[in-house]
Amino acid sequence: MNKVDLVPGRSGAGLSALAPIQDYLAELHAGVSQVTGGSPADYIPELGKVDPALFGISIATVNGQVYAVGDVDVPFTIQSVSKPFMYGYALQHYGRLRVLEQVGVEPTGEAFNSIVLDEVLNRPFNPMVNAGAIAVAEMMQGDTQAERIANMLDLFSSLAGRKLDIDEAVFASELATGHRNRAIAYMMLNTAMIERDPNEVLDLYFRQCSVDVTCCDLAIMAATLANDGRNPLTHKAIFDTQYVRDILTVMNSCGMYDYAGEWAYEVGMPAKSGVSGCIIAVIPGQIGICVYAPPIDKQGNSVRGIRVCQEISSEFELHAFNNRTNVRSVIRRDYRANLVRSNRLRTPEERKILAEEGRKVAVLEAQGALFFGSTEQLLRRLSELAATSRYVIVDFKRVHLADTSARKLVVRAAQSMAGSKTALVFASIADDGPLDRLTRSLAEHEQVNRVRQFRDADAALEWCEDQLLAGANHRLGTKFSVPQINLFKGLSPDECRVVESIIKPLVFEKGDVIMREGDEAKLFFVLARGTVSVEIKVHGKGDRRKRVASIGPGLTFGEMALLDGGKRSADIIANDRVVCYGLGVEALHELSGAHPNIMITILSNLTREFSERLRHANEEISVLE
Ligand code: DON
Repeated sequence: MNKVDLVPGRSGAGLSALAPIQDYLAELHAGVSQVTGGSPADYIPELGKVDPALFGISIATVNGQVYAVGDVDVPFTIQSVSKPFMYGYALQHYGRLRVLEQVGVEPTGEAFNSIVLDEVLNRPFNPMVNAGAIAVAEMMQGDTQAERIANMLDLFSSLAGRKLDIDEAVFASELATGHRNRAIAYMMLNTAMIERDPNEVLDLYFRQCSVDVTCCDLAIMAATLANDGRNPLTHKAIFDTQYVRDILTVMNSCGMYDYAGEWAYEVGMPAKSGVSGCIIAVIPGQIGICVYAPPIDKQGNSVRGIRVCQEISSEFELHAFNNRTNVRSVIRRDYRANLVRSNRLRTPEERKILAEEGRKVAVLEAQGALFFGSTEQLLRRLSELAATSRYVIVDFKRVHLADTSARKLVVRAAQSMAGSKTALVFASIADDGPLDRLTRSLAEHEQVNRVRQFRDADAALEWCEDQLLAGANHRLGTKFSVPQINLFKGLSPDECRVVESIIKPLVFEKGDVIMREGDEAKLFFVLARGTVSVEIKVHGKGDRRKRVASIGPGLTFGEMALLDGGKRSADIIANDRVVCYGLGVEALHELSGAHPNIMITILSNLTREFSERLRHANEEISVLE
C-alpha cells in the first residue's frame, strides 16, 4: 500500500508534474520494498504484533516541506528515537556541564541494552544506550510523576508540531517485561548514577519509548534538529543551536549502537534507530529523514531503514564529510570609485575630480556565509585593496551569516587598520538581521578603530566621494546664482537676468516631499542649498521605496517637465533644510517667444547632461557585470 496524503506542505505522488524528489522517493520505496530480512522486535510482546510489511519514507526540509511515500501516517511507538530528544531537553534545562556529570559521550560499541557503565567517571557511557537514556530520563523536570509525564509529552508534541500520546498497550508491555532495564537502573542506583526511585525513572523511560508517532512526525522532529532546534512547521524554538550540535554529535557516534562505525562510513549522517523499526537521520541545514519498516536486524536497526538511508546518502551526496564549502565565492567583486560612482548626481567639476581621485576608494562586495575560511579570504583581499586605497568599503549586503569566528576576525581587522592611512568603511550590516552581532561588535569599536558604518554601499560611497571632493578643496556648499547652474551654462548675462525674473525661491524642511510621483509636472527646480533624495516605488513590494539618486547644490531636478510636461516619475524628498528655485515650465516656454536662445541653451545643456549620465551608466554596467 502506497498511501500518500495530499495535504498542504506535503508533497505526494502526482501532486504536480514537477516532482523530482517525490518521484525519486516513489522509485526508492518500490525498489527497497523488495528487500527482505530481519523481523519485528518481539522482546516487547506488543511490538511483535505489528504488520511487518509496513514501510514509509518521509523527508522534511528545514522550510517545512514534507515529502512522503508509503505508510507515513501509521502510528508506531518512537522507542529509542526518543533518546536524542530527551538528551536535548536535559541540555536545554541543565546545561552541558551538569548533563556531562550525569552521562558521558563515549560510544560503547555494544548493544543498546548492554549492561556496561563507566565506572571511572561513575556515569553511563552515552545517552543513546539504555543506561544513558535512563539516567537522562531522571532529569525530566516536574514535582510529581504526573507533571514529569506531562512535560515529557509536551516536549515530543512540540517537536512533532501536534499533540502526541502514549500507546498504553506498548507501555504496559514494556513495563511488564523490561527486567533488563530494571537491572540497569538498579545498578545505577547502587553507584548513585541515579538518585530517584528507579521504578519512577523507568516509568518515565518506558513511557517516552511508548509515545506514538508517525513517519512524518519523526521527519519533522529530525528536521527540527536540521533547523538549529526550531520546528520547521510551527517555528517554535525548542533547542539552542549549541545543544543541537551536542545532540547530533552523540547521534553520530552512538546513535546506531554497535553499527555506528559502519553507518558513519557508509551513510555519514547523524542518526538514531528505534526497535519499532524507525530510523531518523539529520542533514544539518537541509533535511530530516525518517524511514519506518518494522523488521530489524540483530543490532536493532530497521533493515529497510538502513538501505533507504544508504541509497539517499549516495544518490544525493549527503555524507557529512562531502566538502561543499567554497571559501573563494565569498568575494562577489571589487571595483573602484573612479568607475562606479554613488547615486549622488554630481556637477561636471565634481565628476572630473572623482574620475581622477576615485581610484583611492575601493569597494569590496562580500557574499554568502562568513565563517573562518571565507572570512580569511575576504580579509586577505581587503588587505590587498587597503595597500593601494585611502578608503575601503566592505559591502555586506549579500552576506546572510557571520559566525563568531568571522566576527572576531573582522573586529581584529578593524583594530589593525586603525593605525593605518586607510579608513575602513562598512555597509549594509543591518542591526536587526543575521549580522546584528557583527554590527554591534563594530559599533563598540567605532571610536577607537575609526570604523564607519553606513546603511548601504551607496551611502558609504557618497560619503567617501565627499571626502575626496573636500580633500581636493572642492566646495560642496551653496550655489546661488543662475550662471553657476550647469543647466544655464552658455546663457548671456541678459538671458540670465530674464531667467532670474521668473525664478521663485522656495524653502523646504527635512523630510518634506518636494514633489510626488504621479503629480502634474509644472515646475522644475534648481537646488541652491542642501540635498534631496529621488525615491521610486519598488515594484511588487507594497509601500517600499528605493532611493535611486541624491542631488546636491548646483543641480536641477524635475527637469523632465521641460521635455514632456507629463507626470512626475519619482518622489523628491528633502534630506535636510533645502533652498531651491522653482521655474514654471509654462513661463519658460512663454519667454522663449522673445528669447528663443534661452530654451535652446537649456535643452542642449540638458541633452549633454543626459548623455553623460547614460555614458557613465554604461561604463558602470560594464564594471559591475
Ligand atoms: O529499552 C528498550 O528496550 C526500548 N524501550 C527501547 C529500545 C530501542 O528502541 C533500542 N533501539 N534500537
